[in-house]
Amino acid sequence: MTHHLQIVIGSTRPGRVGPAVAHWFARTAREHGGFDIELVDLADLDLPLLDEPNHPRLQEYRNAHTKMWSDTVQRADAFVFVHPEYNFGVNAALKNALDYLVHEWRDKTVGLVSYGGVSGGLRAAQMLKQSFSALGLFAVPAAVTVPFVAEHLNVLGEFEPTPIMQDSAQLMLDELVRLTGALAPLRA
Ligand SMILES: Cc1cc2nc3c(=O)[nH]c(=O)nc-3n(C[C@H](O)[C@H](O)[C@H](O)COP(=O)(O)O)c2cc1C
Repeated sequence: MTHHLQIVIGSTRPGRVGPAVAHWFARTAREHGGFDIELVDLADLDLPLLDEPNHPRLQEYRNAHTKMWSDTVQRADAFVFVHPEYNFGVNAALKNALDYLVHEWRDKTVGLVSYGGVSGGLRAAQMLKQSFSALGLFAVPAAVTVPFVAEHLNVLGEFEPTPIMQDSAQLMLDELVRLTGALAPLRA
C-alpha cells in the first residue's frame, strides 16, 4: 500500500524561498517513489491566527478554514515540513498551523527540510520537535539542513541542492517509508 505524503511549504511571506526548496523536495520524493505526493502551501491556506473557541482535541470546529485544514491533514499519513528559521525559532505561520489540530496529526510521521543562514534552520527544527511530541507526530532521525539558502538559488530562483542535501533527502524518505508503514496499524 502506498502512503500519502504531504510536503508542506511552511513560510508564507511574499518573496519567500520556501516554494523553491519545496519544489525540489517534491521532485525528489516523486522520483523516490515511496509515497503518493501532495504539495500543501500554507500561503494558499491563509489561516488566521488560531480563532477556534474550543480546544482542537474536541474537534468542534466552527470555521470553514479549520474544517478545510482538518480535512487536508486527515488524508495524509506522513509530512515533510519545508521551513525557515525566524529569530532563532520556528516561524509563526507553521506553528499556528500545527496548533489548529490535534488528532489529525496523531500516529503520523514527519521529516524536516530546514533552511536559514549559518544555522540551516536547526534551532527551528528543534523547536518543532517539542511540539511534535505533544501531538503524537513522530519525527524521523534523518533531516535535510540547508545553511545559507540564498546561495543555493540559481538565476531563475530554482533551488540547487548539494550532493549531501540530495543524499539526506533520500535517507529521510527511506526512513519515512519505514516508520509510516510501522505506524499504519495505529492509524487504522
Ligand atoms: C523575520 C525573519 C527572521 C529571520 N531570522 C533568522 C534566524 O534566526 N536565523 C536564520 O538562519 N535566518 C533568519 N532569517 C533569514 C531567513 O533564513 C531567510 O530570509 C529565509 O529566506 C527565510 O525563509 P522564507 O524566504 O521562506 O521566508 C530570518 C528572516 C526573516 C524574514
